[in-house]
Amino acid sequence: MERLQKIIAHSGYTSRRKAEELIVAGKVTVNGVVVKELGTKVRRNDDIIVEGNIISMEEKVYYLLYKPEGYISSTDDEKGRKTVVDLVITDKRIYPIGRLDYDTSGVLLLTNDGDFANLMTSPNHHVEKEYRVKLKGFLRKEESTLLCRGIRIDNYKTKKAKIKDVVYNKESETTLATIIITEGKYHQVKLMFDAVNHPVLRLKRVRFGVLNLDNMRIGDYRLLKPFELKQLKELAE
Ligand code: URA
Repeated sequence: MERLQKIIAHSGYTSRRKAEELIVAGKVTVNGVVVKELGTKVRRNDDIIVEGNIISMEEKVYYLLYKPEGYISSTDDEKGRKTVVDLVITDKRIYPIGRLDYDTSGVLLLTNDGDFANLMTSPNHHVEKEYRVKLKGFLRKEESTLLCRGIRIDNYKTKKAKIKDVVYNKESETTLATIIITEGKYHQVKLMFDAVNHPVLRLKRVRFGVLNLDNMRIGDYRLLKPFELKQLKELAE
């Protein structure tokens, strides 16, 4: 527990003196309640708002989760389905960076760092995402070429992609393939393969930038290492 004025000052918002003035003037709320009492003690994870600005004192955390199928990429779900946040034990208020569909597994990042989340999902940045897909039918070379050059889905054309490691299964009439994209539009991979009439039957994200699923089992999670965080930021910039 720390004194409210100290936390506000440490956040860099203003000096301790000014913080005290703001508190007395009723410009500060803690968990939605105006606090005018100087010296009120607060916790690091309390919601502190000063003149409409959120003061965050929570230590920043970055997790890599091997998301299983059957979890929703959100912090809560109105239909009561299990969420990816349920899988990570932490007292921090983390949320997923971008999303993987309910029926998609693989690499998913979670954080409480909004700037980092924005950096990773911004359309101006190009972190590679690699997916292993199982497709209905046999994906032909010409279809791969179309997808790699960029294909029209809805009202936009996808950026250049790479496809590799294509394997056909004659018995089940399916294709396994790896696709690497730099965008992250809603249902992007499924829509891309739909556009060439090969619906995705199974989807797994096997890499996000420098992060893969090596030595992880489904449902496992771990903190990112400082060098991994640095590399991701460099890739995005
Ligand atoms: N593209 C999709 O269609 N679904 C995902 O979960 C991820 C990428």
